[in-house]
Amino acid sequence: MDVILRTENLLKTFGGLIAVNNVSLEVYQGEIFGIIGPNGAGKTTFLNSIAGTYPPDGGHVYFLGKETTGLSSDVMCHLGLARTFQISQPFPRMTALENVLVSATFGNKTNPVKDPVALAKEMLEFVEFPMPVDTLALNLNTVQLKRLDLARALASKPKLLLLDELAAGLTTGELGDLMAIIRKIRDSGVTIVMVEHIMHIIMGLCERLAVLYYGEKIAEGPTQEVAQDPKVAEAYLGEKYHL
Ligand SMILES: Nc1ncnc2c1ncn2[C@@H]1O[C@H](COP(=O)(O)OP(=O)(O)OP(=O)(O)O)[C@@H](O)[C@H]1O
Ligand SMILES: [Mg+2]
Repeated sequence: MDVILRTENLLKTFGGLIAVNNVSLEVYQGEIFGIIGPNGAGKTTFLNSIAGTYPPDGGHVYFLGKETTGLSSDVMCHLGLARTFQISQPFPRMTALENVLVSATFGNKTNPVKDPVALAKEMLEFVEFPMPVDTLALNLNTVQLKRLDLARALASKPKLLLLDELAAGLTTGELGDLMAIIRKIRDSGVTIVMVEHIMHIIMGLCERLAVLYYGEKIAEGPTQEVAQDPKVAEAYLGEKYHL
C-alpha cells in the first residue's frame, strides 16, 4: 500500500514541555486514519507540526514521497495538504461563499482553477452546506461552521485532509450526517487523518489509528486491535471500551 504521509521521530517542544515526543507513523493512501489520546496528549501539536503551522524541533515529515519537514503551511497547502482547526477560524465578516472562494483562489496556486466561484459553490454543495451561501460567517452556528471548514479545506483540492476534532459539539443526528460526508470525501480520493475524541466516530470511520499519550505514541494499528490493547484502555478509553 502506498504511504502518503510518514513521520519519523517527530519532536515538538514548548520550553521544557515535550508536546510531541519522537512520534513515527505512516498513513496510507486512501485510508481514514484516526489519532486519539486524552486532552493535552499532543494531537493538535502533531497536526500543526506536519501542516507547517510551526516547524518541528526534531525528526522528519515525508508527504507524497518527498521530505517536507519544516515547510510553511502555504507551501504544504499547495503541495496538497489541507486541514481544519479544532476551533473554526473563518473570516467572520466574509460570506460563506467568499470564505471558500479564498481557498479556491489561493489554495490552488500550483494548479490554478479556471472558475474559482464555481468550485467554491460546488464544495459548499458537496458538504451539504445548509445555509444560503451569502450568509456572513459570523452568523453561522457550530454545525454550519464545521461544514464551512470542510468546504474551505476541500476547495484547495487536497490529497490529504487533516481534521482536528471536527465532530466536537455536534448532536447525535449531526454526527451521522458528518460521518457520511467524511466517507464521501474519502471516496472522492482524499486521504484523511482525523483527531477525534468521540469513539464511535473513530470506530465507525477509521481503518487504523494511533494513540498519543503525553506526547508519545503508545499504540498504532487496526482500530479493533488498538481498542483492545490493555495499554490503551488503561491510558485513555476506560473499561467500557476494553473489549
Ligand atoms: N503554542 C503552545 N505553547 C505552549 N504550549 C503549548 C502550545 N500548544 C500546545 N501546548 C501544550 O502542548 C501540550 C499538547 O497540546 P495539544 O493542544 O497538542 O494537545 P491535544 O492532544 O490536541 O489536546 P486536546 O484534546 O485538549 O485538544 C499541552 O500540554 C499544551 O498545553
Ligand atoms: Mg487538540
